[in-house]
Parts: sequence; structure tokens; C-alpha cells
Amino acid sequence: MAAIDLAIIGGTGVYRLAALHEPEAIEGDTPWGKPSGPVRVGTLAGRRVAFLARHGEGHALPPHRVNYRANLWQLRQLGATRVLAVNTVGGITGRFGPRVLALPDQLIDYTWGRASSFWDGEGGEVLHVDFGDPYTPALRAGVLAAAARAGLPLVDGGCYGATQGPRLETKAEIARMRRDGCDLVGMTGMPEAGLARELGLDYACLAIVANWAAGCGDAAEITLAEVLENVEAASAGLPGLLEALLG
Ligand code: HPA
Repeated sequence: MAAIDLAIIGGTGVYRLAALHEPEAIEGDTPWGKPSGPVRVGTLAGRRVAFLARHGEGHALPPHRVNYRANLWQLRQLGATRVLAVNTVGGITGRFGPRVLALPDQLIDYTWGRASSFWDGEGGEVLHVDFGDPYTPALRAGVLAAAARAGLPLVDGGCYGATQGPRLETKAEIARMRRDGCDLVGMTGMPEAGLARELGLDYACLAIVANWAAGCGDAAEITLAEVLENVEAASAGLPGLLEALLG
């Protein structure tokens, strides 16, 4: 079987990759339990590409219940070495309004109580991986170049703040995150990025801004309808970006 050139983890509103030709659904198990759903492996731009819906294809798993370890283990088990994670986020600072696509270069982890390492200390070694640059620079550079070739606007950089959810944040929490230096807020960026680093996978986050975070825009309330509508509009550029990245 040919190696998988790229694995994509889809977030809220991105449950399928329609551009994937003749996908084969691979169900499987890992030492960490079951992944969120089948990994669909097919071809895109002549390359083997894997797709996994992070929340399950019917969006049954909230962010704090996703088995991040099983998902990444399964992708690596199938031969993936690079992962493009698609994450739906709220925008905090000026460049990151609804429908913007962004490629953050930093993150802050506010999550708690999630299984966040493959090294849990049960008879194994304890590993402290370098995580100064949480997203793989070479993969980020490749995605940026692909976006330029595809003519797709993509904001380069920004700090992703990972919150616990599943509730959205208070205005005070977002104000604190802004003071901390966060540009984006989402619920699924961690522990996924850290686990990918532990497995030695190349990993980058393609953030789709669905809404202004609490207190950042004019909306009185953030609704799921708004989130899904903006994700759908912004993800229209995704197939072109992937073709350019793989081609
Ligand atoms: N906060 C956290 N996660 C999100 C948001 C938000 O405003 N929008 C989409 N995912």
C-alpha cells in the first residue's frame, strides 16, 4: 500500500472531504481506544490522502470527549507522517474576523483534564518533547505556499488559545485571552498538537474563523447557525488549497 501523503482531521462543519476519490473507510482500534470514526483513505491530486472527522461523522463527540490519542495513533498506524488539522475557531483580534482562514504559529493551552500525553508514566519512560514551535514550520511553509499558488487568502501566524468547552467563553475569559496574546479561540487544538509532536508527526493547524469570540463583535449572541454558515462559506477554498499542497 502506498504511503499516505497527507492526513486531514476535519473539525466542526467539515465532516467529509468531497474531493477525495474512491475513499476506502478504515475502521480500527488502537492501544488508546477507538478513533472518532473511520479514516477515509483515497486519492486527491494523485496522492493518497486520509481524512478523519474529529468529532465523528455525525458530530457526536464534544471537544473534551474526543479521543485525541486514538485519532493520532490511528493516522500514524496507517502510515501518515504529516497532519493538517482543520479547526473551527472564534476570532479575537482584528485580522481574524468571520470566514477568515488562518495558519497560527503559536498556541496557549487552557484545557484541563484531557488525556494529553502518550507517556502516562505506567512503566514507560517520561518524555519532554520540545514544543517551542507547536506547529511544524516546514508544513506551515508548504501550506502558505500552496495558498499563494491557489490564490486563497490565508493569514500567516497568530496565537491559538485552546479552551475546554463545550460551552463558549465569557467576555471576561476572552478579554484575558486577548491580554495573554491569543488571536484565536477554539476547543480542539490541544492536546492534539502536543500528541502529534510526541508521535513525531508533522502537524499544522488550518483555522477557520466562524464567529467573533464573546465580546469581540457586535453580535449579542453566538449561534450554531452562524458558526456553520461561516464555516461552510470559508471551507469552499479548501479543495483548491489541498490540490495545490499535494500537486
Ligand atoms: N470559542 C471557542 N471555540 C469556538 C468558537 C468560539 O467562539 N467558535 C468556534 N469554535
